[in-house]
Amino acid sequence: MTDWPVHGRISGPIVMIGFGSIGRGTLPLIERHFEFDRSRFVVIDPVDTDRALLDERGIRFIHAAVTRENYRELLAPLLTEGGGQGFCVNVSVDISSLAVMELCREIGSLYIDTVMEPWLGFYFDKAAGPAERSNYGLRETLLEARRRKPGGTTAVNCCGANPGMVSWFVKQALLNVASDLGQPVDVPADRAGWAALMQRVGVKGIHIAERDTQRARNPKPRQVFVNTWSVEGFVSEGLQPAELGWGTFERWMPANAREHETGCRAAIYLLQPGADTRVRSWTPTAQAQFGFLVTHNEAISIADYFTVRDGAGQPVYRPTCHYAYHPADDAVLSLHEMFGQAGVMQPAWHILDENEIVDGVDELGVLLYGHGRNAYWYGSQLSVEETRRLAPYQNATGLQVTSAVLAGMVWALENPEAGIVEADEMDFRRCLEVQMPYLGPVIGQYTDWTPLEGRPGLFPEDIDPAEPWAFRNTLVR
Ligand SMILES: NC(=O)c1ccc[n+]([C@@H]2O[C@H](COP(=O)([O-])OP(=O)(O)OC[C@H]3O[C@@H](n4cnc5c(N)ncnc54)[C@H](O)[C@@H]3O)[C@@H](O)[C@H]2O)c1
Repeated sequence: MTDWPVHGRISGPIVMIGFGSIGRGTLPLIERHFEFDRSRFVVIDPVDTDRALLDERGIRFIHAAVTRENYRELLAPLLTEGGGQGFCVNVSVDISSLAVMELCREIGSLYIDTVMEPWLGFYFDKAAGPAERSNYGLRETLLEARRRKPGGTTAVNCCGANPGMVSWFVKQALLNVASDLGQPVDVPADRAGWAALMQRVGVKGIHIAERDTQRARNPKPRQVFVNTWSVEGFVSEGLQPAELGWGTFERWMPANAREHETGCRAAIYLLQPGADTRVRSWTPTAQAQFGFLVTHNEAISIADYFTVRDGAGQPVYRPTCHYAYHPADDAVLSLHEMFGQAGVMQPAWHILDENEIVDGVDELGVLLYGHGRNAYWYGSQLSVEETRRLAPYQNATGLQVTSAVLAGMVWALENPEAGIVEADEMDFRRCLEVQMPYLGPVIGQYTDWTPLEGRPGLFPEDIDPAEPWAFRNTLVR
């Protein structure tokens, strides 16, 4: 096929760090949509299981781990060799996003990643307290780096499906709700305009509401953690404290909730692991469902982005924002097994590829709630069948992520001097325009459901009947 739209030219080397489920899926999208010099495309990974894919294309493979000790010596020459502007695509685990990003900016290479990742060891450091192991803390290091060195070469942080694409969905969903409420508006020009619009529309909060129904051909064996994307990534974030952007409408906090003393203060955390924290949520396929409140960068960045402050800098409006993730059934079982053994991960793990999945959809969207039409879900319903037709080497979860990486790369090439950016700060229309062909049906749906529906049931419950959307009602206790 030669009729893929070419979105831009990468004039220097491409260095991809990590060739796991996301790296493999990103490869064909880079090939389709960019002009680049194949002889200067390098992939680095300590695991070489899939190197045949690279060998058959004549793409160079470096069989090594990027570490705190070697990253400068290893990456700087690779990204600068032969001139032009290099592009670093970091889709690994256990490598500090900040360290690699700052190096790229020093040498003038563009940079993108899909998660704010620390160096190996951070997630399981028993000497570090929960606040230190939070995504809030990781994000604050990014904001600090940006304050230290504003502007300069573009580095796009956290640009996968979520974090990433969902920030673009939030903006589109907000415009749709405003219009459906009879308040159509021009697209706001800046952050303050967006936050004011969110407040005016009356959105109390946002769930990143996901249901993954992808079903494996073979049942999950005992003592194997099975997932549709990085098991290492999911277990790491699942054992971080549950974290959420904390809305100004909330009147109650769980007893084990903690606030941060420094930084943007847009989020709180709970003294419990996110993947063992359930919340009530809703998606079109699942309707009412339990999701896990796994910490995610977007829960904090979206809440921060849409904060309205008074003259003294005090927040007068902020939406609550958190993940409500129902992963594939095999992953739910895997979590159940893992937390049954005190959070000790199974000795083996497996990521389901597109050939091992019988059927299913990754339904990933944003649920804007508490406004005049109650709640509105807007998102992608990408099936594994459609994914197989759209792009090779990935399942539906993967394609939602890799197409966001593609969109982020296009945006970076078109805005090469934007400094360090989060998805919330990018042009959501341009990014969605690039990504849309890979997302399957993208739909918006209203619902009358609230977390109070059918409650209390057979037993007394501690609920807030006056505020259906309060976190007190959403959190499963
Ligand atoms: N934002 C999103 O929507 C989103 C979604 C899925 C995954 N992710 C993130 O993307 C990253 C990749 O996910 P994945 O599903 O491909 O994971 P994966 O586990 O399939 O692959 C990770 C790869 O990184 C390699 N790696 C590990 N240590 C390395 C090192 N020191 N140097 C170089 N490579 C190293 C591994 O060998 C592996 O091949 C993870 O950080 C994950 O959290 C983000």
